[in-house]
Amino acid sequence: MNEVVSVLIDEKTLARRVKELGEQISGELERLTPILIGVLCSGSVFHADLIRNISLELRVDFISVKSYGAATASSGIVELGRDLESNIKGQDVVLVEDIVDSGKTARFLIKHLELQQPSSIRLCSLLSKPSKRKFDVPIDYLGFEVPDKFIVGYGLDFNQSFRNLPYIGVIRS
Ligand code: IMP
Ligand code: MG
Repeated sequence: MNEVVSVLIDEKTLARRVKELGEQISGELERLTPILIGVLCSGSVFHADLIRNISLELRVDFISVKSYGAATASSGIVELGRDLESNIKGQDVVLVEDIVDSGKTARFLIKHLELQQPSSIRLCSLLSKPSKRKFDVPIDYLGFEVPDKFIVGYGLDFNQSFRNLPYIGVIRS
């Protein structure tokens, strides 16, 4: 049975940091009307909280990827799942990810979005595991760096479970 063995980032700390990121984005993108693109499913909780902390006129859309492989390891193959409904040509995009691990998913998504010729793309990720990075993807807005442990909650899953935890925890699997 998998269970959460420790809390890595509690609810209050998450809320405080998400508010700061929202304020930073609101300040830096002051003159823009960005589109905040959430990555389903695991980025959806962060996306929902982040947009409510941004005081700009903005739009939202969602995209998803399918990745294959073991539950706790990033797989080698990333494919597009659900594509955007919006046309982002000439738009200022903020891609909202839960975690950048190897960097493969973020790199894949940025390349995919670039095909539509947006005017800019920024990456906002709640979490980063720098020890696992294989592809260099600059993160414009980062919540927290996390150690090389498998973590769940606040949208992140293990075999589709634990997404509804209000904090980020470490599981024993
Ligand atoms: P990457 O392509 O290796 O950067 O990993 C991307 C995806 O793997 C993330 O968007 C997450 O959904 C998932 N992932 C990576 N590390 C973890 C983790 O510790 N817990 C849950 N999901 C993870
Ligand atoms: Mg995931």
